[in-house]
Amino acid sequence: TDNINKALKAAQNGEMFFIFDSDSREGETDFVIAAGAVTPDDVRWMRRDGGGLICVALDSESSEKLGLPFISDILRDEVENYPALGTTVERGGDLAYDSRSSFSIWVNHRRTRTGIPDNDRALTINELSNITEKVLDGKNVDFGSEFRTPGHVALLRAADRLVHERRGQTELSIAIAKMADVTPAMVVCEMLDDSNGKALSKEDAMEYARLHDLVFLEGQEIVDAYEQWEQA
Ligand code: 5RP
Ligand code: ZN
Ligand code: CA
Repeated sequence: TDNINKALKAAQNGEMFFIFDSDSREGETDFVIAAGAVTPDDVRWMRRDGGGLICVALDSESSEKLGLPFISDILRDEVENYPALGTTVERGGDLAYDSRSSFSIWVNHRRTRTGIPDNDRALTINELSNITEKVLDGKNVDFGSEFRTPGHVALLRAADRLVHERRGQTELSIAIAKMADVTPAMVVCEMLDDSNGKALSKEDAMEYARLHDLVFLEGQEIVDAYEQWEQA
């Protein structure tokens, strides 16, 4: 559709766009932008006007090649050593909106100092895109020589079967990256409502996108486009 084509162009041009998952899931809208294009100003924009968590979603192939886990798996493996983890680590039925989260580890690029200022986070995010591009090109990379954990950028790992398995902004943003043929490293950040602290309503998120002349997508239209694209 026209809307999807505009989103693919936005992804290719490194422009911001928005993804609302669905009314039957979180009911949240995220800022979305290709990680390779992020500037410190974009980080400031997301933390001020979005206000959620600034994360980088990676596709499952690059996550696997980079050796990045789901953090819940790692925590579960340590339950015997740290009993608090046993009762804390997420399990089926914990989340009201999905069967599991997509969180991997949290990182800072080694050239950052504290990792949180806008320029530090932009650097970490840009370098995550670079290392993803390299590993998918078949180049040898050493994740730990470039990044350290814990850090201030959350990595998200998309489901192996992407939108056939899970339909969070993690998978939806990566589906756009695949269709747009851009490096599958996408920044997402939830939009919150300053007037009440809740998730910004879909209507207000759409209005925000319209005012800024940016593309607003819903999960279902991404799923439909992705399924068509896979068949082509
Ligand atoms: C990380 C999150 C966000 O909801 C983000 O949109 C990615 O998660 P999901 O794929 O579960 O929607 O929790 O801030
Ligand atoms: Zn969330
Ligand atoms: Ca989400």
